[in-house]
Amino acid sequence: MTEVTERRSYQVSTIASSPEREIERLSAQVDLFWPDEFRHYVDNGLRDGISMVELGSGPGFTTEKILDLLPEIRITAVEIDPLLVEVAGDRLSRPYGDRLDIVQGSIMDTGLPSGTYDFALTRLVLEHLPDPVAAVREVTRILKRGGRAVFVDNDFEMHLMTSPHIPALSQLYGAYCRSRADEGGNPTIGRELPGILRSGGLSAVTFSVVSAHSDIVGSKSFLGSEGVGIATKLVRDGYLSSKALGEIARSWRDLMKNDKHAILRQMYLSAGEK
Ligand SMILES: C[S@@+](CC[C@H](N)C(=O)[O-])C[C@H]1O[C@@H](n2cnc3c(N)ncnc32)[C@H](O)[C@@H]1O
Repeated sequence: MTEVTERRSYQVSTIASSPEREIERLSAQVDLFWPDEFRHYVDNGLRDGISMVELGSGPGFTTEKILDLLPEIRITAVEIDPLLVEVAGDRLSRPYGDRLDIVQGSIMDTGLPSGTYDFALTRLVLEHLPDPVAAVREVTRILKRGGRAVFVDNDFEMHLMTSPHIPALSQLYGAYCRSRADEGGNPTIGRELPGILRSGGLSAVTFSVVSAHSDIVGSKSFLGSEGVGIATKLVRDGYLSSKALGEIARSWRDLMKNDKHAILRQMYLSAGEK
């Protein structure tokens, strides 16, 4: 498989302390939001029997959930990283057969035919790209007329919040933002999504928040989805002090012991029509 060397602020092999740990975190992150997330996709036209494309599908955890819930859907999954194409293929090719086509390629130039898909999903990818408008333009090109495209991203200034408040978390997210921005990403893209979708050629654009609350999904769900792999790497790369990381770990342990604690995290979803 060929290595595609396009600039992006997400590389599974370097973003965290190990790729295995990062793949586990991606899995937990899909589980964390799924109870709220799926209904947003259905509201935007995801249904059984259609033809869907997923861009930046990673190890395929979202892909897998959709294939399980909608037994007649066909999905083309486009992923740039050869390691993740392999991981997704090993897990999904056999169980889903010809309902799933995994393609190694870039969202910037998929090579897929124009006007092909009823529904497109791009989850946690635009925030890592230097030119997100061009990516949306390419997704719009491969959509059928009347099809809808959904984009989900973070905004790290409105990310994870806790009660009691953990002040040192702002240092972690500040460090993460500097690190991603240095690699060409935009970690506060969430608030900009509707404008980016319009500039990329979509109309009837909507905006919503996908959320996970500890009182609804349980506090344990947050442990795996936040993980320590990325934070450890930020310390190693000089973006975060080990003192701040130690303080966060201590505060998190205290939070868990507090019966009335609450944890809230959100992602931002914008959708539009071709
Ligand atoms: C944070 S991960 C999200 C993976 C998956 N969408 C999910 O929600 O679990 C970002 C993904 O986008 C992929 N990616 C980054 N730039 C890309 C590009 N130009 N084209 C296709 N995929 C890309 C990465 O390799 C990675 O799999």
